[in-house]
This record gives sequence, structure tokens and C-alpha cells, in this order.
Amino acid sequence: MPTFSPLPPTMLTPCLLCLQDLGGTNFRVMHVRLGPRKGQVTACDVEEVTLPKEIYTGPGDKLFDYLATTLKSFIDRHRAAAAAALVPPSERSPSQQMQSSQDQPPLPVLGFCFSFAVEQDGLASGKLLAWTKGFSCPGVVSNDPCALLSAALERVGRPCRVAALLNDTVGVLAAQRYLDSDTEIGVIIGTGTNACYVERLAALSKWEPPAGDEASGDGRTAINMEWGAFFSPHLPRCMEDLQVDAASPHPGKYLFEKLLSGMFLGEAARRILVSIATEVEGLFQARPKDVHALLADARDASSGNMLEAAAATIPKPLATPGSLSSATLSAIVHDCSWGLRKTRRLLVSELGMHQPSTRAAAVVKEICTLVAKRSAQLTAMAVLAILRHNGWADASPPRPVTIAIDGGVYERFTAYRTMLSKAVSEQLGERSAELFPLIKFVLSHDGSALGAAVLAAAAVTGH
Ligand code: BG6
Ligand code: GLC
Repeated sequence: MPTFSPLPPTMLTPCLLCLQDLGGTNFRVMHVRLGPRKGQVTACDVEEVTLPKEIYTGPGDKLFDYLATTLKSFIDRHRAAAAAALVPPSERSPSQQMQSSQDQPPLPVLGFCFSFAVEQDGLASGKLLAWTKGFSCPGVVSNDPCALLSAALERVGRPCRVAALLNDTVGVLAAQRYLDSDTEIGVIIGTGTNACYVERLAALSKWEPPAGDEASGDGRTAINMEWGAFFSPHLPRCMEDLQVDAASPHPGKYLFEKLLSGMFLGEAARRILVSIATEVEGLFQARPKDVHALLADARDASSGNMLEAAAATIPKPLATPGSLSSATLSAIVHDCSWGLRKTRRLLVSELGMHQPSTRAAAVVKEICTLVAKRSAQLTAMAVLAILRHNGWADASPPRPVTIAIDGGVYERFTAYRTMLSKAVSEQLGERSAELFPLIKFVLSHDGSALGAAVLAAAAVTGH
């Protein structure tokens, strides 16, 4: 099991690395320069690609070929920099310079941030346990994503050294801990959600000290919790949550994630709005032309019974799965315009409503806010559970703790951040005044990529 500790500043000689970041909304390739001073990082170039659905749900070898092809064209564009990946020419000794003029240029070094559940058995190897979020490529589960990527890179004629494999939460934790040694937890709240935390090796039942090195139990490691997979019958799930799960790519799995993350927030709110629309007739009006078309269809299909007529009055886009994105939900929660003008505009453009009233907009805003608040409260609960497990609240005196967070929901949905802080404070109860000021949430923008760079650099330099 790879152990985790902040990197000593001495290892941060200038080092060029490429990273692949798979599993968020977009797939990214990034070229990063670290050092020479601690905390000095430059993302020299970033390419962001939206994966087509047929790639993230099609055969696994096609997915890895796609990643490898994107990486190859990226590296080819940066050939000169990538060729200098391990030791820049200015730092090479005269003998190294002579040698490298005879040798092949060193292989580009790659950190692979693979944001899925992996049983990791080395710094750059592991086995995918299950796909989550929207991914479902056959032929990858139980295999090593690093080996699959390396093979694909060979196939496209651009071999690389895959030096580190890590989850996005581990990347966020590593990146922030590198800057701030109080960092104990890394969290992602984006398309999916997850956390990892720093644990003592001696506390792990799976860990056995190497023979003759019992003291190594004092070391620490990062534990990827895959908290999205958590489930308890005490979780507050309503009928619409069950529908969201049943219609998702992996029904019955990752039920906590389905209450929390960006892939599901909008859809849960949409389903609740459909339930309300069925009960409160006329609250959300469909456009007259859509109603006429739907009623005509209903009459053609059967004898035009009342239920079909009622369904026809729900705007079709509102009744369509996926039509309320979490980005729109966030825009609605943020709307403070007079008469909720912005929300009413979104209800027309995104959900096909006809002249929505201020009352209709207020109902939609309330539902969106409740769904987001529930997510923030569950996140707060899960973060505090880790802190309790670590004995943080019982330490005397309790120490400051930093929680690094990344992901689209936390980054772009600012009201969510406020909801999360408030929920943490509420859940600390009577100890809030004493403990809350010690907890710091830090947005670690692109943290996972930096973390991948730090870990890949550590692997390459042997630290
Ligand atoms: C990005 C990280 O910033 O956030 C990724 O670099 C991570 O590693 C992603 O998976 C999660 O957020 P989203 O919103 O893209 O799913
Ligand atoms: C999913 C993945 C997990 C990842 C999270 C956030 O839950 O299983 O590994 O960290 O999404 O991207």
C-alpha cells in the first residue's frame, strides 16, 4: 500500500509531467511544472475534452484508445517539453548531456487521475472495482487501468511511463496537504462525490508491517472511502429518489452519491416538480401548441382518457428525464431577481413552461433549494463522521483542520458552500462556537491534477 506524506521541498527539482484526468464532467490532459520551491506549480497547458457517450459507455479498449490518442496528439504538440520530462537540459551534468544525446529521450511521465473505485496494490497499479457515474464500458472492471492505458499508448505509438495512479479525492488531498499540513480530508462534490482522509497505518487491519520494520506503523496513508457507495435505511429518501436510482446507469449502487452529487441533484428536483405538477393542476402550464399536439396524440393512441389529458398539461420538457441540469438548479437557487424573473425565463427555455407565474417560480426555487440543502447536510454529516473517527473533536485542545474540496458543485454553486458551512456548524451543536472556527474548507481548484503531479514526481524521484 503506498504511504502518504507531504513531499520534502528538496525533491522539487523542476520536473515536467503530463496528467490524465478521467471521471469528472470532462476528460483532461494537462502539462504541469513543479518546483523548484515548495508550492510552486505551473499548469503549462491544459486540454479539456468532453467524452462522447458512445466512448464512456462503449467497449473499454475504445475508451483507452481514445484517451491514448488524445494524449498522443497533446504530447506531440509539446514534444520538446515532454522529451525533457525527467531532467531539464539546464540541470543535466555534462556526462548526462553526452549520454542523453546518444540515448532515446526519456519517456514522458504520466500521472493518471482515474476517478473511480480501484483496489490499488501499488503506486501505479490496481484493479477497477466498479464503474460509477455515467461510465459503463465493458472489459475494464477487474482490470488495471494503468496497464490498459499503457497498452493503448503503445498501440498509438506514444509510450509513456505511467508513474502514479490515483483517485481524484487523493489528488485533492495530496495537493492541498503539500501546501498546508493541516489538511486531513480531500472531498469531491461534482458529477460524483467521494472523500479520502489521512489514516495511521497501524489503524488498518489490512496492513502488515514489513518484517523488521515495525516502526513503519507510525506512517500514514490516504484512504479512499468511496463514500458514494454508503447506504443506510436511515438516509432520507423519498419516492422520487427511488425513481432517480431506478432510472440511473447503475441502479441499486452508490445510493449516497445519488442524494448528493451533481449528476443527480437536478434530476431529483425535476421528478419532485413532476409529482407536484400532477397534484396541483395548472401550476406549471405547458405551451398551448404542445398541449394541443399531446392531446391529439393521446386521442389517436387510445380513447383520450383523463390521465393522458392530465399528463398532456405537464410541459413535455419538464416530463423528460435529464431536462433540469444541476447547473440550472444552481442558477435557480441563486436567483434573487425581482419576481424571480431569471427563474421564470429558465422555466420557459429549459422546462418548456408557458408564462410561468411568480408562484410557480417560487415553488421551483423552494424545491431546488431543499434538494441542494439536503445534499449539503449529508456532506456535512459525512465530513464530521471522518473527523469523529479521527478523534479530532476529542483532542485536547482540538487542532485546526483543513478540508480540501473540488468538483463542479462546490466550485460553481456558491450557495452550496454556504449551506455546507451552516450544516457543519449546526451539526456541531453546542460545541460549534469552540470547534467550527477550527475547520477550514478550501476550494482546491484542479487540485486532483496537481496532486497527480506531486505523486508522479515523487514516484519518479523516489521520494
Ligand atoms: C476536477 C478534478 O476539477 O473536478 C477532477 O480535476 C474531478 O479530477 C472533478 O474528477 C470533479 O468535478 P466534476 O464536476 O468535473 O465532476
Ligand atoms: C465516484 C467514483 C469515485 C470518485 C467520485 C468523484 O463516486 O466512484 O471514485 O472519487 O465519483 O469523482
